[in-house]
Amino acid sequence: MANPKISVLGGTGDEGYGLALRWAKHGYEVIIGSRDLEKAKAAAARIQSTAGPSSRVSGLVNPDAASKADVVVVTVPFAALYDTIKTIKPSLRPGQIVVNVTVPLETAVGGSATRTIELWDGSAGELASRLMPKDVSLVSAFNNVSAEALNDLSRDVDCDVLICGGNIDAKRTVMDLARAIPGVRGVDAGPIENSRTIEQLTALLVSLNIRHSVKSAGLRITGMQPKN
Ligand SMILES: NC(=O)c1ccc[n+]([C@@H]2O[C@H](COP(=O)([O-])OP(=O)(O)OC[C@H]3O[C@@H](n4cnc5c(N)ncnc54)[C@H](OP(=O)(O)O)[C@@H]3O)[C@@H](O)[C@H]2O)c1
Repeated sequence: MANPKISVLGGTGDEGYGLALRWAKHGYEVIIGSRDLEKAKAAAARIQSTAGPSSRVSGLVNPDAASKADVVVVTVPFAALYDTIKTIKPSLRPGQIVVNVTVPLETAVGGSATRTIELWDGSAGELASRLMPKDVSLVSAFNNVSAEALNDLSRDVDCDVLICGGNIDAKRTVMDLARAIPGVRGVDAGPIENSRTIEQLTALLVSLNIRHSVKSAGLRITGMQPKN
């Protein structure tokens, strides 16, 4: 898909804001989705002023943001994932791509960000996939990219993005979105089931951040040239 319009649900928060900022800076048209219209518009205005006058950023409530985009990126805390998908489901259209960035950290039940909770579906990506309409493709990606790194435009983001899901064309589109972020390499990581492993790595990265007093630990897969 050439030049997709991207909506970022939860784009008012750290991770979604950083992704939206990078994509706006690259030249993609971006819509910030929020539960609150004014909050969405305020975040969009901040991104627009940081990314520059030629950037195209607007803010809408989540269902409107979802209906207007080609690619819908979900960056909400796990506790809000089910509700967010339920809210946008009637607005989704055939052919759209939904990207799950959410990780089921234990913080969802008052615990630690260095642990995850066990899900019946296996992972947040698989849960989101189960809730999708049949003609919408669910891909998991960006789960391991630090918000801190995304929000610092003065440096490249030093992280591979593992992309998993069942639709190869959807993964190719998301691969382009990964490539648009300086320093990032997209890697096709196979079927959606692999989101289980990928999401666990986020908890490990949080743990490494704490142990080594840094804020943007990332990961690189070595020994391979990713296929497009
Ligand atoms: N932060 C990172 O470095 C990082 C890295 C990799 C993956 N992730 C994953 O990305 C997701 C978002 O992380 P984040 O740090 O950006 O989270 P966050 O700042 O706490 O929340 C993101 C947005 O989610 C929305 N939201 C919807 N329902 C909510 C609820 N019940 N409680 C709180 N917020 C709610 C809020 O937007 P509105 O109020 O505007 O609706 C909020 O601004 C998480 O699943 C996280 O595990 C984060």
